[in-house]
Amino acid sequence: MTSTRVAVIGGGRNCEHEVSLASAAAVADTLERAGYDAVRLTIDPAGVWRDREDRPIALAGAVHALRSCAVAFPMLHGPHGEDGTLAALCDLADVPWVGSPLGAGALGMDKWATKLVAGALGIATAPGRLLTRAGADAYTFTHPVVVKPVAAGSSLGVTLVRDAAGLGPALDAAFAHDARVLVEDLVTGREIDVAVLGRRDGSRVVAPALEIVVPDGEIFDHAAKYGGAPDFRIPAPLDEADRKDLERAAVGMYDALGCAGVARVDFFLTAQGPVLNEVNTTPGFTAQSQVPRMFAATGMSFAALLDLLVRDALPA
Ligand SMILES: Nc1ncnc2c1ncn2[C@@H]1O[C@H](COP(=O)(O)OP(=O)(O)O)[C@@H](O)[C@H]1O
Ligand SMILES: [Mg+2]
Repeated sequence: MTSTRVAVIGGGRNCEHEVSLASAAAVADTLERAGYDAVRLTIDPAGVWRDREDRPIALAGAVHALRSCAVAFPMLHGPHGEDGTLAALCDLADVPWVGSPLGAGALGMDKWATKLVAGALGIATAPGRLLTRAGADAYTFTHPVVVKPVAAGSSLGVTLVRDAAGLGPALDAAFAHDARVLVEDLVTGREIDVAVLGRRDGSRVVAPALEIVVPDGEIFDHAAKYGGAPDFRIPAPLDEADRKDLERAAVGMYDALGCAGVARVDFFLTAQGPVLNEVNTTPGFTAQSQVPRMFAATGMSFAALLDLLVRDALPA
């Protein structure tokens, strides 16, 4: 029996390039150990596709490589990948793929659009203002806020601003990543992330929630994410009512955005209940990443999770 060829796409032309390389390598290595033929395709920081021997290939070559596989497994975090662009390419190339389609990727990548969808569902988010460079001067600091790019990731360009002096540098850091920036009220609460897996039959599997233990007065910034071992608690200690509210909101967002495969829906749990932070349609996917660890807590290994995702994406 020949093994199923899976195109695992990593890298990408964005600030999360290295994180995406790590996710793609973990996915490809694990699929290979499970008997798949992983065809590793990489998009380098300049946007050039590279084949499994790391040779540059034109877009037509990348499409050819994708079409030689039974299924694609896009593992690009951030813009020019997670935002639906890779899903669109797979769609147009008529290659089945693991994960969300164009619309879900685009809406999830856009933290402002995510807020609008959440609002329509009655799910709370931090009150926020959308700024462009041209309009940023009209904003005056009145209370602690979090400044962040509308579309980025890995906490890059995200700053907690406690005083007026911090606003300018925070805006510069955010505008370095995106032409649109969100200035959000600072939310006080525990950070709880929920993984939702949509199965081929339409059922939804929710893994035990994960709590990120963030020291008081800090945010889960880039250094905390990647500078050491972040403090995760799985399952997050939750009372039954909070757990149900979080799961209902997570599945509600997954369905409203039109997600497929696994999405990680991130919340703050406040005294007033869950406040949605963001939806990641291509969450980190190494064995140490949040989603694989949440499913591991149900007894599902990383290999079993990947196998299930690939099988669900293959044509029936
Ligand atoms: N409105 C907010 N209030 C409090 N903390 C926030 C807020 N927005 C973001 N943060 C903190 O910053 C981190 C990164 O922000 P996030 O919006 O998740 O960006 P990214 O897409 O880069 O992960 C969050 O995990 C959280 O710790
Ligand atoms: Mg985040």
